[in-house]
This record gives sequence, structure tokens and C-alpha cells, in this order.
Amino acid sequence: MKVTVITISDRAARGIYEDLSGPAIEKILQDNLENIAVARIVVPDEKDEILKALRAAASSDFILTTGGTGLSARDITPEICREYCDRELPGIAEALRSESYKETPHALLSRGYAGMKDKTVIVNFPGSVKAVTLCTKILIPVMGHAIKMINNEGH
Ligand code: MTE
Repeated sequence: MKVTVITISDRAARGIYEDLSGPAIEKILQDNLENIAVARIVVPDEKDEILKALRAAASSDFILTTGGTGLSARDITPEICREYCDRELPGIAEALRSESYKETPHALLSRGYAGMKDKTVIVNFPGSVKAVTLCTKILIPVMGHAIKMINNEGH
């Protein structure tokens, strides 16, 4: 399984702030899944940079983004990913939000999107380590089955 983790954060991209969430996602994936290759990219909250990273990761089975799902003017991750994807996966975004809501009411402020571009599943996580820790654990149990379905290998 090939996974690309894209951290979308102005501060992390400028080096003002250490990217902790991208490495946290990678560690949880490596600890829980076999035969997994994880690549990581850090980009600012800029449309062109986000699109460039999504395109660079086009051969991945999964692209997991962290950050830029909130309400500030520079939070544009969901809009860019929605525009880039050709199919929506609403169940994933719904589950991430509803499970996260059990952890914090602020979960309602994440506008994270999930969809597919060709054979790649793209999922937006919020930016915090706490959020990505929960969201990665929620996603892991369906990742293998998703790949089988995408490759028409049946249930
Ligand atoms: N989801 C979980 N599971 N845990 C969290 O701590 N933080 C929330 C929310 N989702 C949070 C969460 C907060 S405070 C915000 S503002 C939104 O995600 C958006 O975060 P982002 O702008 O970093 O993407």
C-alpha cells in the first residue's frame, strides 16, 4: 500500500513550526499496517502548491492531508481537494467528524472532505496531532478493503 501524507500549513512550510502531524500519521500507519510505503510532503495553504502535491502523489493508493480544514480565510484544503477529485466518499468524512465530535465539539469546525481521483483515495484530516491520531485510527480498518474494491478484486 502506497500512502502520501501531505501537511498543508503555512507555518510548517516556512519552518516556523515543526510538522508533528505528518510524522504522527506515518508512525500510526507503519505501526498498524504491513507492506506500507509512506511518503511525506509539506506545503503552504496555497492552491497551486496543494494541487502540485496532489498531482505528485497521483500514483498513491491513499493521499492523507492534514491541516487547512478550518474556518480561517487561508483554510482551503477541502475546496481544492473537492475540485481535484472526481468522486466523493462522504462516509469517510462523516465518520471522521462524528467520531471526532465525541472527543471535542470543535470537530464540527473541520470541513474535511474525502473523495477519489482515479484510483487514489484522498482524505482530509484536521491539523492537530490529537485529531490526526484519532482520524488515522478510524481510517485504517477500511484501507485494505477500499484498495481491493478499487482494483475490482471483490469483497
Ligand atoms: N478533530 C479531532 N478528532 N480532534 C481535535 O482536536 N480539532 C478541531 C477540528 N477537528 C480537532 C478535530 C479544531 S479545533 C478545528 S479548528 C478543526 O478541526 C479544523 O482544524 P484545521 O484547520 O487544523 O484543519
